[in-house]
Amino acid sequence: MTTSGNSPKILVTGGAGFIGSHTVVSLVNAGFEPIIVDDFSNSERSALDGLRAILGRDVTCYSVNCNDAAAMEDIFSREAPVGVIHFAAYKAVGESVAQPLKYYRNNLDSLLLLLELMPKYKVSNLVFSSSCTVYGQPEHLPVTEQTPRLPAQSPYGNTKAIGEDIIRDAVRAQIPVNAMALRYFNPIGAHPSAEIGELPLGVPANLVPFITQTAAGIRTSLTVYGNDYNTPDGTCIRDYIDVMDLADAHVQALKKLSEATTGYSYDVINIGTGRGETVLNVIKTFEQETGVKVNYVIGPRRPGDVEQVYADVTKANQELGWTARRSLGESLRDAWRWQQKIK
Ligand code: WQD
Repeated sequence: MTTSGNSPKILVTGGAGFIGSHTVVSLVNAGFEPIIVDDFSNSERSALDGLRAILGRDVTCYSVNCNDAAAMEDIFSREAPVGVIHFAAYKAVGESVAQPLKYYRNNLDSLLLLLELMPKYKVSNLVFSSSCTVYGQPEHLPVTEQTPRLPAQSPYGNTKAIGEDIIRDAVRAQIPVNAMALRYFNPIGAHPSAEIGELPLGVPANLVPFITQTAAGIRTSLTVYGNDYNTPDGTCIRDYIDVMDLADAHVQALKKLSEATTGYSYDVINIGTGRGETVLNVIKTFEQETGVKVNYVIGPRRPGDVEQVYADVTKANQELGWTARRSLGESLRDAWRWQQKIK
């Protein structure tokens, strides 16, 4: 299928990554023309093959580091996008503690460069990938966007909080940008075709890829980090959002920004299901949905984990007309199908 020449172009930094690649699918389905910028430092070129299999066409991709000013300016000049979705960032919480400067440099410089190039090339719409990690352990649940951010638990989380502040202050200073920061909760799942999904490089830190790798026999067993929390079954509670729903939320955010007619704006929006699930319930749901047993042991708490966090999604419903549609079971079935594909 050839690309229609007049579809509005959207720069998708980190577009070969887990959330980025799924958002590329949603963008094309919504009539946009995504332009991927990815240095493949934490993604694989096979994602482009998966996208071709799903979309029946190639997606333009520049193998560029988002901190390369000359290369990024060249892309803005060539492609004349109408908006940017900025996913590209290092995101390993543990690694960020060990190498904070690498995280601050990479995650913040790329955002600063975009905010310099966008006005220069009259690109006004920016969707920024943020995270519920900015809330830390909220006092009240479900957590709303008005909940004060707590000191970040990690340099990674801090780059998200600082990134939000950079955009807020830029807009306040009348830098001509309409921006939305989407605070993701816990992204899981994969495209139902199993052509794209989460590629945990190395030992997974996150729960669902560890479950699927244990179910696939790649890991001998899963350690549940603590069952002595003040929750129904003692394990932590999170808001697991399907990556396809998360991708759709980016398209809705972009459309909302495109409708803005006067002035420039900055807003933050929670993107979650609004439901909290315990670790043990995720395991049980996976076993029920796939018929595959997951060997697990109960281990000590993981330092830095919050006990429970899940989203109030009223604002996303009202302002974006968006709500999560996929169930935990569907997400886990898709994650398993993807795991079986990559083995
Ligand atoms: C979920 C729950 C663990 C692995 C992280 C980032 C956050 C965001 C989402 C980017 C916790 C438990 C996990 C395991 C376990 N990423 N667990 N055994 O920590 O909520 O959030 O990913 O924006 O910024 O911090 O996700 O999947 O690591 O953990 O028991 O082998 O599963 O203790 O309660 P987390 P997670």
